[in-house]
Amino acid sequence: MKDFLEWTKPGSEEARLASLLDPGTFPRHIAVIMDGNGRWARARHLPRVAGHRAGVISVREIIETCCRLEIKALTLYAFSVENWKRPRSEVETLWGLLRHYLHRELPELKRNGVRFQIIGRVDALPRAVQDDLDIAMVETAANSGLRLSVALNYGGRAEIVDAVNSILAQARKVDGEFHVNEQMLSEHLYTSGLPDPDLLIRTSGEMRVSNFLLWQIAYAEIFVTEQLWPDFRAVDLLEALLDYQKRERRYGGLGDKTESSEPPCELVGVSSAPTAGEPDSDDLPASSLRQ
Ligand code: FPP
Repeated sequence: MKDFLEWTKPGSEEARLASLLDPGTFPRHIAVIMDGNGRWARARHLPRVAGHRAGVISVREIIETCCRLEIKALTLYAFSVENWKRPRSEVETLWGLLRHYLHRELPELKRNGVRFQIIGRVDALPRAVQDDLDIAMVETAANSGLRLSVALNYGGRAEIVDAVNSILAQARKVDGEFHVNEQMLSEHLYTSGLPDPDLLIRTSGEMRVSNFLLWQIAYAEIFVTEQLWPDFRAVDLLEALLDYQKRERRYGGLGDKTESSEPPCELVGVSSAPTAGEPDSDDLPASSLRQ
């Protein structure tokens, strides 16, 4: 945060917003649905790919800002399993932009201590893209700063299916009883080892989660902005953080709103307030923790 304040221009909107933030209650993990590149381009009578190109500038700024704010984890939704339905030329441009980004930004990511990883069915990506991604992952693997995940050929349902198949493979090696619980499922997701997102940001005003991190966003606070992704900058991230810090996270309980002196009616072995990324309950009826 100190680094961030030194970086902002005194008197700027960033500096003003930053001074209102409490670094002690930042989200540990921010997930972003980057949407609106096509609309940004259309509004300027440009081809859609110009929107993606402009979107890379936002990617760069948001990563840099998260580093300066010392956010622990950032996950960006860059290409969904459904995005293959787009024209080949657009898809190929996206791979080109990603490769160009990696070639140009890897030294900076390393300097900032970013640990880079991909979530999604990476095996289906073009070989050259996989090779560049592997280099970035290997070269940043020992870093201890921002955990940056880029979702590529990603689908939330596909991720859960992959986790179930991975658990089944494990179960086949076990003689006797095998029991699946929430923690085990979390550990077989692509995001294993990361806390669940506390804050999900979606640009361009759509009120959808679009098959993104379906399991992990169970308790995330959702922030939707009308800004299109290429217009989303540090100042917009700070606004989202301010909004997040005004929310009361209740996890199905009553938070501070209860006037009751009664102790919570907890089921045996069930925590009433699951911590992000940590297992809450096993074998609960689906309605037990609903907010
Ligand atoms: C959604 O806008 C955006 C995408 C599908 C691609 C996002 C990719 C980038 C920002 C560039 C590459 C990423 C990295 C990590 C370097 P849309 O095309 O669906 O917009 P629309 O809804 O307005 O058509």
